[in-house]
Amino acid sequence: MSYLGDVGEVMITEQEIKKRAREIGQQITEDHIDDDVILIGILRGAIMWMTDLMRNIDLDITIDFMACSSYGSSTKSSGVVKINKDLEEDIEGKSVIIVEDIIDSGVTLKYLKEYLAGRKPKSVQVCALLDKPEGRRAKVEGDYIGFTVDDRFIVGYGLDYDQRYRQLPYISYLSASE
Ligand code: IMP
Ligand code: MG
Repeated sequence: MSYLGDVGEVMITEQEIKKRAREIGQQITEDHIDDDVILIGILRGAIMWMTDLMRNIDLDITIDFMACSSYGSSTKSSGVVKINKDLEEDIEGKSVIIVEDIIDSGVTLKYLKEYLAGRKPKSVQVCALLDKPEGRRAKVEGDYIGFTVDDRFIVGYGLDYDQRYRQLPYISYLSASE
């Protein structure tokens, strides 16, 4: 049996994602023409989107990564956020753009935005590949969104189910979450 047994149809193709990365990269370039921009990728889900995005920003940017986890079952976030890897770069005075895979409950993001704001950046924005507005519990929105998706459990293009399926070069969903 194929290891893709739990995965549904392709929802968003690699070509569509690359096109969105070009559009958003251009938008970020225009919006931050005079700024000192740092992209902060949230491991591990944001890796593919981060590499697409950064190739399309025509500014003198820097990058860093953070890793965090929220306790809970594998498909629902609990609300308690733990930082597993902190920043290595100083963000004071910089225009921070958090790069996320998906905004679901928004709990992780709300926590991260407040945490980073405490380090005196010029601004903190969010660029997420996906937005799942139906899942929202915390009052937080993205500034740059690739695609809005239904309330299904998404996998592929960095997003995992139990650490699997991150390598898929497209966005799909767990067929059990239909
Ligand atoms: P939050 O619920 O917005 O705090 O989401 C926290 C993290 O849970 C995201 O950054 C993802 O890594 C993960 N997550 C949320 N929804 C999904 C999904 O549909 N598929 C895979 N991971 C998800
Ligand atoms: Mg995850």
